[in-house]
Amino acid sequence: MLLDTYGRIATDLRVSLTDRCNLRCTYCMPEEGLSWLAKPELLTDDEIVRLVGIAVTRLGVTEVRFTGGEPLLRRGLVSIVERCAALDPRPKLSLTTNGIGLERTAAALRAAGLDRVNVSLDTTDPEVFARITRRRRHEDVLRGLAAAKAEGLAPVKVNAVLMPGLNDTEAPGLLAWAMAQDYELRFIEQMPLDAQHGWQRTRMITAGDILESLRTRYTLTPEEERRGAAPAERWLVDGGPHRVGVIASVTRPFCRACDRTRLTADGQVRTCLFAREESDLRGALRAGADDAELAERWRVAMWGKKAGSGLDDPSFVQPQRPMSAIGG
Ligand code: GTP
Ligand code: 5AD
Ligand code: SF4
Repeated sequence: MLLDTYGRIATDLRVSLTDRCNLRCTYCMPEEGLSWLAKPELLTDDEIVRLVGIAVTRLGVTEVRFTGGEPLLRRGLVSIVERCAALDPRPKLSLTTNGIGLERTAAALRAAGLDRVNVSLDTTDPEVFARITRRRRHEDVLRGLAAAKAEGLAPVKVNAVLMPGLNDTEAPGLLAWAMAQDYELRFIEQMPLDAQHGWQRTRMITAGDILESLRTRYTLTPEEERRGAAPAERWLVDGGPHRVGVIASVTRPFCRACDRTRLTADGQVRTCLFAREESDLRGALRAGADDAELAERWRVAMWGKKAGSGLDDPSFVQPQRPMSAIGG
């Protein structure tokens, strides 16, 4: 079990499969991209499956989410999913993607055992999409979403980050669109995880702003279902059945209920998105450690998990690695 000193138990593993991406979202990375991890630094498919296996069979992890960068860029993705689905006990398997290429792979992912996908999409307008992501791929994302729905990767969730002057007026329009397509929309507060270190609290659209904007068109009532460790707070829209979520990592942090552990594409365990330390499993694995020893290292790393993100601390320092290298 992955227990920490605050009594939290991590059962949800997020695995970054690559730090590369085919978009350049302004809240994530610069136009020119980043200096990507070199191939030998990345865990191999076998190493990933072995570490996920240790998490599932020895450490009590029940849910595994693959992230990036953009996880669809990882060639071995379908086979990694298939091998993780064969673990006993079988974990729930999900993917967080920007949706580009999902049209091509949704059926294979479903067949391999993937349960769900979350797709990032911040706007209904192709021009605004091009401004936010610096790529003209809006249509590809829509096709990816449609394919995921057609394959039954349900519920399909859509993640949107709002930014002032770019898409901050789009909340009600995005919700209308998502409900019409039967996607579950969640708005995410922008976090200080961009590679350019350009985040400013005063320039952030807050959960409060988002709810106020949505209420100009919809009646929202708090969802009664227990939230558990889910980062999204949810509301029923106009009495239901559709829902909308808000992930308010900055203004309403949910760290006390956090059930996450993370593995970066280069094999480092992170206790939190905002952690300052990492624990090197890759090094131990490549030096010949057995499964019991790797499990013990993972346990020790999680025991050191901090109480919270530290975002409200005046001495807060952004983590060295950007979101794309940590895994979203
Ligand atoms: P489900 O609710 O199970 O569908 O997944 P999810 O919302 O956890 O996953 P997703 O990858 O879609 O994450 C959405 C957003 O939640 C991320 O972009 C982050 O903004 C936020 N998030 C995910 N994990 C963490 C975390 O450990 N800490 C904080 N503060 N935010 C997180
Ligand atoms: N703040 C909030 N969300 C972010 N994402 C990427 N960078 C940031 C950031 N700085 C989102 C993506 C995707 C999810 C994995 O994280 O839009 O939906
Ligand atoms: Fe790529 Fe996701 Fe970063 Fe956008 S937020 S550039 S989709 S890794």
